[in-house]
Amino acid sequence: MDIKKVLNEVTKEIEQSSSQQELQNVKVAYLGKKGKITELLKSLKDLSLEEKKSSGSKLNLLRIEVDNLIKDKFNDLKIEEINSKLKNEYLDISFPPPNSIASKAHPISKTFDEVITIFGSMGYSVAEGPDIETDFFNFSALNIPENHPAREMQDTFYIDDKDKEGKPYVLRTHTSPVQIRTLLNQKPPVKIIAPGRTYRCDSDSTHSPMFHQVEGLFINENANMGDLKGTLIEFCKQFFNVQNLKVRFRPSYFPFTEPSAEMDIAYEIVDNKIQLGQGDRWLEILGCGMVNPIVLENCNVDTNIYQGFAFGVGLDRITMLKYGLTDIRSFFSGNLNWIASNGFTIGDF
Ligand code: PHE
Repeated sequence: MDIKKVLNEVTKEIEQSSSQQELQNVKVAYLGKKGKITELLKSLKDLSLEEKKSSGSKLNLLRIEVDNLIKDKFNDLKIEEINSKLKNEYLDISFPPPNSIASKAHPISKTFDEVITIFGSMGYSVAEGPDIETDFFNFSALNIPENHPAREMQDTFYIDDKDKEGKPYVLRTHTSPVQIRTLLNQKPPVKIIAPGRTYRCDSDSTHSPMFHQVEGLFINENANMGDLKGTLIEFCKQFFNVQNLKVRFRPSYFPFTEPSAEMDIAYEIVDNKIQLGQGDRWLEILGCGMVNPIVLENCNVDTNIYQGFAFGVGLDRITMLKYGLTDIRSFFSGNLNWIASNGFTIGDF
């Protein structure tokens, strides 16, 4: 019985196996029920006691060695298979598409990032709500009851389906419903912003049926109108990158804030271009105010302890101002040439 010869032979066959199936065949041929090594072990019974002892232990060692060689080879083949899969099926999703126009980021995306960064540095975290809202969150919890003339301030898109109260769902007309969602879920102090899409039935060069707002809500024991003004002025200075910014707060009306205000930024036209910060023309960019105690009570917040402010900024509007764009509809035209000249490369963020 030439053990060495068998070992050489099987080693070669193992090495030459190029798939797990081939290797499995080698295993069966040597270690299977009728395999060569199994047959050799079976034939021991015909030998004398002495021979049985010496050949037996050698054969056993051979069986163990072959078994190990096969196991190692199985592992190698598995790794090879994974590597070749990785190589052949590799897809670099971070790579920009071949058409460099398509790799530009939309100005609104850049504004979202900047707004989150600026308010983030003031300690605000980001909250979210759905685009499709119930009447309760979009209106009644915000102190805008049915048949109240304030509902006409916003041209609402209604949806055929009705909610549990039997009222039609709406496409949210502002991000303010996120105030309610947050206050019902989170105990004060609350300090959140909620950037997102909003919808109103309106379309011209400064209105789009789908547009963007960022809501802000700060509730604690003593937040006041001065804090609100300071926060918004600081936000505008950072966002527009203008240190010497002339702004004004005009008294206004919103059912969910009392008192309410709108904030304008001063600008002038120099060489046919908008120049922000100085001058005697004014542009309205946001609504704000102290949260109406009725709203806090609707959310079970104790108004003997808590108060705060809220604001809602039109993100499309401030983006147009920042980059001197004149038609809001161009944002949503899907025109690649427009993106090519008005978009940003990722490195600009
Ligand atoms: N939701 C208001 C609007 O869309 C803006 C606003 C938000 C006003 C928060 C006051 C407080 O017009």
